[in-house]
Amino acid sequence: MKRSDMTSADRFNPLPDVLDMVIFGGVGDLSLRKLLPALYMAHSHGNLPERTRIVALGRQAWTHEEFVAFVSSRCQPFIPEKSREPGAWQRFLNLLVYVSLDATDAAAYAKLGTALQPGSDRVYYLATAPSLFTGICAHLSGAGLVDARSRVVLEKPLGHDLASAQDINNEVGRYFAESQIFRIDHYLGKETVQNLMVLRFGNSIFEPLWRGPHIKSVQITVAESVGVGSRAGFYDGTGAMRDMVQNHLLQLLCIVAMEPPVSLDPDAVRDEKLKVLRSLRPMKETDVAQNTVRGQYTAGAVNGESAVGYLQEDNVPEDSHTETFVALKAYINNWRWANVPFFLRTGKRMHERSSEIVVEFAAMPFALFPDAPRQQTNRLCIRLQPEEHVQLQMMAKEPGSGMRLRPVSLNLDLESAFTGRRSEAYERLLIDVIRGRLTHFMRRDELEAAWKWVEPIMDGWTARDEKPKPYTAGSWGPAASSALMARENMAWVEES
Ligand code: BG6
Repeated sequence: MKRSDMTSADRFNPLPDVLDMVIFGGVGDLSLRKLLPALYMAHSHGNLPERTRIVALGRQAWTHEEFVAFVSSRCQPFIPEKSREPGAWQRFLNLLVYVSLDATDAAAYAKLGTALQPGSDRVYYLATAPSLFTGICAHLSGAGLVDARSRVVLEKPLGHDLASAQDINNEVGRYFAESQIFRIDHYLGKETVQNLMVLRFGNSIFEPLWRGPHIKSVQITVAESVGVGSRAGFYDGTGAMRDMVQNHLLQLLCIVAMEPPVSLDPDAVRDEKLKVLRSLRPMKETDVAQNTVRGQYTAGAVNGESAVGYLQEDNVPEDSHTETFVALKAYINNWRWANVPFFLRTGKRMHERSSEIVVEFAAMPFALFPDAPRQQTNRLCIRLQPEEHVQLQMMAKEPGSGMRLRPVSLNLDLESAFTGRRSEAYERLLIDVIRGRLTHFMRRDELEAAWKWVEPIMDGWTARDEKPKPYTAGSWGPAASSALMARENMAWVEES
């Protein structure tokens, strides 16, 4: 990296001289689709230390050549075509070492020790089932492979509920200090999510209005067009609440709602997010019935292609009640946000892949223009994916005689404004781990506060024996989700 490209955070957190990146689950899905491609991109752009070794761990008894052939065939499709360069790929492969290891076998960790470089900074990435996390940390420590410079990265979902999350945190905390634990939520690595902080705190125009009653409501949608695919084994025991709401959506809500932090110091930012999570109004059983909707997709068509229902997906039990969709209305009990509804929704097999935050400002106090569309409000739409843009919807006069008004958008098209390479969330977050920057990772208390709020909702569903409502694949979710908004005289933005 050129010195002129460095931010002050880079200078403050330099790259280590020698790095061992150890991936448990090194030949699993996440590693092949996200981690190794992200490390390849980081390496080919000079963002890894010169003396880097990437140690992939798996159970297969492969030779180095077999491992390299497998990785080459499986990873490359996940690297943008224009970035695939044979020379760079070969140089990347030279960093890789494969170690066949049963992560539950304490005696095997001595073998891992011999694959590591003397004096290296070690990053242990646990891309495995959470049930293995505590055993892995104990065995690493038992084999003398953890020191003050080691870091551990924990993939979500961290636990199944508050108690199991606390157990994992307690156990991992026996071997790693909190400053060495990187709980990853890849939404915090997305360019537009990070940009949301800049939009709020790098500009002065929004902040005075960024509160109730100037803001009428906030919508956060993370819609996916894909179904559960080959992940039913994991997903059916998890569901959309644990897979998406407890982490990704609540983190987005925190960034929208947090107070300005005093600095970008990790704890300063995480303290503010924690306050938001702790201020979420707890839901009682009656609130769960009124303010939440769970759904499950049935057969339909997405993007012109037919799609089977959730119950017909491979490895899904035919009587499964797992939700693939959640919509809910939340309130934040503090001065800034009292009585401003936050509508959250996420689902699989929805109409299109689209993630968006819509901040709806209050209606004008007085209607000066009789021909203005009724109830038209200003909206700030922050589009996270698939495109990245920010639009402020304003009223403007239609050309011609008379005073006819029409909404038009002020567009901040980030993709045209910044034409340089955009790195993927995992690449950005992996570099943060390597440099030891914790700002975009969840602290223990944040994670537990999120479970604390979510758990009574899931308990409420169980107590009421609430079955998920069916929605057709390719739709925007169950009708009850629109009704949730309609009761407030509002509508999800796609449907308006
Ligand atoms: C993951 C979930 O955390 O996020 C998946 O486990 C989901 O179920 C994915 O598909 C969505 O991420 P993205 O970046 O594609 O929006």
